Amino acid sequence: MIYDNGLVGDDNFSRMLNAVFLNLPAAEAVRRRMTTMRREMNALAPGSRVLNLACGSARELAGVDNAITVDLADHDTHALAHAARHRNGVAADLLQLNAFEYIKGRRRFDTIDGGTIDLADRRYDLVYSSGLFDYVPVFADNPGRGAPALVAGLFDLLKPGGRLVVGNFAAASDNNPHLPSHRLMMELYAEWFLIYRNRAEMIDLARNLSPQAMSMRILNERFAEPDIEPTTIWFLEITRNA
Ligand SMILES: C[S@@+](CC[C@H](N)C(=O)[O-])C[C@H]1O[C@@H](n2cnc3c(N)ncnc32)[C@H](O)[C@@H]1O
Repeated sequence: MIYDNGLVGDDNFSRMLNAVFLNLPAAEAVRRRMTTMRREMNALAPGSRVLNLACGSARELAGVDNAITVDLADHDTHALAHAARHRNGVAADLLQLNAFEYIKGRRRFDTIDGGTIDLADRRYDLVYSSGLFDYVPVFADNPGRGAPALVAGLFDLLKPGGRLVVGNFAAASDNNPHLPSHRLMMELYAEWFLIYRNRAEMIDLARNLSPQAMSMRILNERFAEPDIEPTTIWFLEITRNA
């Protein structure tokens, strides 16, 4: 519904309520995050290989007309089935993958068409994940668990020069149009609880990586500089040194 952004509902009250939610800065940022990743994939060199973790409906694939291949991974087979129905030519393998099993070291996953893929054998030019890290905590005294462990595990899948891009909703700030009242609307009405991170917490997600092995940037949902433009969603971009 966020991506379709239509005036839907069984009655006028429902339509009004939907319209309010679908026009919140958070919804606008989710749509922008999606078109940003579409643009990034269209800008890749032809032949590039991409992994989209927690792909959901993978709406960004519609409009990717580059000669790349994109593996889609999600723990929800319904999401994968939906993505499969709407996949365009770039979608490659669709893996049933639970990120928490990946964190624990599992690398072999079933595909929805009955195969098995060993991610230990695959390397990517781009690995990205939108809408997952908002739910993955950090365990301060255990770097082998949680979001930093997932970042490190995904970094291992990069080719030299490859990029890992991790989205996460930004904590409240003067520069964030997603106001505390909007957050309350999501939490109290929709029971939609996210882990909101500040810039330092985003950088800290890379704590398990050697600074000699990578470089990183913090961008906003447009892939623009967060200090200049409003920022509702961060993208942490980590590039593996060539
Ligand atoms: C908010 S949606 C984001 C979907 C898509 N990336 C997007 O931006 O539209 C979150 C997705 O994460 C998936 N997900 C949640 N927990 C997961 C886990 N532990 N492992 C893999 N996928 C997970 C859900 O099934 C869902 O498709």
